[in-house]
Amino acid sequence: MPVPDIRGKSWDTFLDEFKKEWKPGQHIAIIAPTGQGKSTVLVTLLDLRTYVLAFDPKGGDETLGKCGFPRLGHWPPPGKAYDRMADKKPVKYLVGPKINRLAERPALAAVQAQALEGAFDDRGWTVAIDELQIAADKMGQADAIDNLLISARTRGVSVVSLFQRPADVPRAAYQMASWIFLGLTLDVDTINRLAEIVGRPKYEIRGAVNGLAKQDYSWLIVPNNPRRPMVLTLPREPEKVPTGGNVSRGTSRV
Ligand SMILES: Nc1ncnc2c1ncn2[C@@H]1O[C@H](COP(=O)(O)OP(=O)(O)O)[C@@H](O)[C@H]1O
Ligand SMILES: [Mg+2]
Repeated sequence: MPVPDIRGKSWDTFLDEFKKEWKPGQHIAIIAPTGQGKSTVLVTLLDLRTYVLAFDPKGGDETLGKCGFPRLGHWPPPGKAYDRMADKKPVKYLVGPKINRLAERPALAAVQAQALEGAFDDRGWTVAIDELQIAADKMGQADAIDNLLISARTRGVSVVSLFQRPADVPRAAYQMASWIFLGLTLDVDTINRLAEIVGRPKYEIRGAVNGLAKQDYSWLIVPNNPRRPMVLTLPREPEKVPTGGNVSRGTSRV
């Protein structure tokens, strides 16, 4: 069977359109192995939103740190944040204290659990959260992800959840995602599972992956309705020129 051409437009064009399409309460799932660029994609998506709580899973995630949001080490945020929201001015935070030791992790998890509940009460936030299942476990809501996402939707809270492996994505998270962003992979089991998750034929997903996986930082984006997948490639971030070392890859391209 022929593989449809599903190459999409440029990333910037996509973001322009997506900003209008992505309504409050619509969820997104981002699935890719570590180092494939999940946090990088997340940061560009959060740019489109006005009220953001980006949960920092590590208490010091480097890529997330690039978003430049101030860190919220406790919940609730200061009253001035709500004043700004009342004035419709942007309010964006990295949620969770910066931690240096493993022993501090419970404190991080506690703040994030409070923030998640708080965000639902407040309405209007976009919440970004790594490994939703694990976060829900810590909140004692392991079996309640579907309820969590439904109540978020009805409150206009968009949840962007990030997962490392398709096998870790709870059914509710992909069924309720209005968009799924898949980092490309060559692993056959992964591809089959992804096809199942997004409800597309395996040959189509495999074709997309074969054709484009060699490109850096390509993503397969599958909207829930209609299920019309497209592949987009993120522009390369400007590389840091190593001091006194190799010429950066960018300069050798004309
Ligand atoms: N479009 C891109 N261009 C250049 N580098 C990228 C791009 N996307 C991701 N990277 C780099 O890859 C590394 C891992 O990205 P990250 O977003 O932290 O991945 P993940 O969250 O999946 O672990 C980072 O050093 C990041 O700068
Ligand atoms: Mg990350």
